Amino acid sequence: MIDLNGGQFPEIRLRRNRTDKFSRALVRENVLLPSNLILPIFLKDSLTKREAIKSLPDIYRFNIDEALLHGEEALKLNIPAVALFPCVPSSKKSFNGSEAFNEEGLIQKAIKLFKKNLPELGLVTDIALDPFTIHGQDGIIDDDGYVLNDETVKVLVRQALSHAEAGADIVAPSDMMDGRIGAIRYALEKKGFPNTRILSYSAKYASNLYGPFREAVNSNKKLEKIDKASYQMDPSNIRESLREVWQDLQEGADMVLVKPALPYLDVVSSIKSNFKVPVGAYQVSGEYAMIKAAGQRGLLNEHEVMHECLISCVRAGADFVFSYGALEIAKQLKSGA
Ligand code: PBG
Repeated sequence: MIDLNGGQFPEIRLRRNRTDKFSRALVRENVLLPSNLILPIFLKDSLTKREAIKSLPDIYRFNIDEALLHGEEALKLNIPAVALFPCVPSSKKSFNGSEAFNEEGLIQKAIKLFKKNLPELGLVTDIALDPFTIHGQDGIIDDDGYVLNDETVKVLVRQALSHAEAGADIVAPSDMMDGRIGAIRYALEKKGFPNTRILSYSAKYASNLYGPFREAVNSNKKLEKIDKASYQMDPSNIRESLREVWQDLQEGADMVLVKPALPYLDVVSSIKSNFKVPVGAYQVSGEYAMIKAAGQRGLLNEHEVMHECLISCVRAGADFVFSYGALEIAKQLKSGA
């Protein structure tokens, strides 16, 4: 054991290495690279021009053609993958969210076009029913509004298969139902998709930071609180996240995700040190919006704060980070700023 307190001042001055830019670079322990980032993209059918999302400054809903240009830009900046999220009109929503597995649905169409036009760009697709249900819950509900686990898993399997058939590289169940990873893995193997990766949102917390996202995908128009506490994790818990991860790995997950990111870095770190498996963090809509809103009011430098929050995820042990700021950060890294 090294005695960290054994050093003698002034022989040991930790500030010496911090004196110049070059020596700070030499001793830097972690770096944020564009290849650590995943860019979420919001899609909406039949848009003639991009549509601003009020609660997410600088983020838009795109039609598939414009989304492709966005994907191309990401690829040029060395961002390896994008995550697609659909915004469907109320007319396509139903009580049990069956639009989720429509072969001709928005996401399924988008996957095919992305894979055709940008085959090298990794495609992550969200597995959950909330953009497709009238009530905005991630699954099928009973008369009391309780989200039914096993009934929901059956629909999630159909949704995941429809994405894999269209060509998705990584399906990412974000619904927190029990047993969904195993059921999806089994179905993928059986239907001939042994290489479709599963990124499980293993530790997804019932956070209040998802509000802007719910506006973006039109899953909660009135911004009233949709209670997801009966399936998403309690923000007070950390040991439980290890059980979730363990379970998902047993069921065949290839990578796991913690969400939100910054307030849950202890969870990222604990998962990394316990399991040594690929772990991602999701800087969610509310985290992004807080930084942007403060930046717009001149209260802080949004680019620098964004970078600081993302490098913190990497330092905590995240191999990759979802961020709405991915393009902005990748451009900044390229320019050497
Ligand atoms: C859908 C889903 C959500 C997010 C990603 N997938 C919302 C939710 O669970 O309510 C949130 C992403 C964000 O806030 O940026 N299940």
